[in-house]
Amino acid sequence: MAFKLDFSSILSDLANMFVSGVATGIDIGTSGVKVVQLKKAKGAVVFDKFAVVPYPVDDVFGGKGEIANVDAVASTIKEALAAAGIKAPGKVVADIPSTNAVIRLIDLPMMTDEDLEQSIVFEAERYLPYSLAEMSVSYHKVGQFEAEGAPRLKVMIVAAKQEILFGYLESLRLAGIKDPIIDVDAIAVVNALRPILPADEGVAIMDFGAGKTGISIVQDRQIQIVRSVLMGGKSITSAIQNVLGEDWMQAEQAKMERGKIVVDDGEEEDEVAETVRNVVEDIVGDIRRSLEFYQTSTRQHIDSVIITGGSSKIYNLDRFLQMELGVDVMIGNALQGLKIAETIPQEALEDKLPELTCAIGLALREVIS
Ligand SMILES: Nc1ncnc2c1ncn2[C@@H]1O[C@H](COP(=O)(O)OP(=O)(O)OP(=O)(O)O)[C@@H](O)[C@H]1O
Ligand SMILES: [Mg+2]
Repeated sequence: MAFKLDFSSILSDLANMFVSGVATGIDIGTSGVKVVQLKKAKGAVVFDKFAVVPYPVDDVFGGKGEIANVDAVASTIKEALAAAGIKAPGKVVADIPSTNAVIRLIDLPMMTDEDLEQSIVFEAERYLPYSLAEMSVSYHKVGQFEAEGAPRLKVMIVAAKQEILFGYLESLRLAGIKDPIIDVDAIAVVNALRPILPADEGVAIMDFGAGKTGISIVQDRQIQIVRSVLMGGKSITSAIQNVLGEDWMQAEQAKMERGKIVVDDGEEEDEVAETVRNVVEDIVGDIRRSLEFYQTSTRQHIDSVIITGGSSKIYNLDRFLQMELGVDVMIGNALQGLKIAETIPQEALEDKLPELTCAIGLALREVIS
């Protein structure tokens, strides 16, 4: 069975848009399903519908990040579509996590598109952790450049294990979704934030999720590398659970209500805030190592950081990162360039926006391609 990953329009440009009507992004995250529907109206891309629905059970994913409970994911997808009021999803783009994908920017000698098509899989093979037979490989020609007087190509390859893709496709099929496009969450996050990415700068986009913290380094608006730290909101909740001796839901609630990072001298830090800071310090330690490695190995400089994802809502996370990493930190706003439908409840959208970044990026590529 050969499923196709498809991220061919990763370089979509909002200014270059062409309408394909309606598109729905379905982000199948570690904590739940996030859906966003975008539509094209009078030359604008309209943010029309959204919902965030957590999984009803906690045995959704297996040890390798595979979907262990396709029924639970399928019913959560259905519930999210219903909660958003989406009856006709239009073109659907869903995702697999970057932790289950291989994403590499590679250099090749200049060749025709036909030759690239023929040879890319074999070129990609050396970067793949499994045999070609076990993986689905996709690629995108990023651009041309010159090295030592000879023209060369920059190509991005994206690959995932068939076995992993299967669970995602099966969940979508059971939810009644026909012909979904499968992208990678980190790529969708970059696409969603593309309108706010400064040109000619190195930016690290950090997606603070539940199961992981994704780091995508972008130079001149182009993804260079994608890494992740396997700690996120769940690590924080679990640490709070240990400290308070409460159950998961209570710990999650304590995190929402009291989960902040104390950065000002003299401000009191309770046990929840202290626990949040300890886990975030661990995450930031790994992030710093990733950024330093990138900067020394490529001699490129990271000028700023953009944060997104549900866990980026931890109060003061931006200030803490700025202090720890010594670069400007911005909160990612994926609504830039979009028109908000009048039916959208403003406050609820503002609250959920960090979690919705990825789903917006997924839907965008189809509504503007
Ligand atoms: N106000 C808040 N303060 C702190 N954490 C929050 C807040 N709101 C949501 N979160 C956390 O955000 C996480 C969910 O974020 P998000 O939807 O981005 O993750 P995900 O996409 O499901 O996970 P992943 O990307 O790792 O698969 C949960 O861990 C949740 O506890
Ligand atoms: Mg996510």
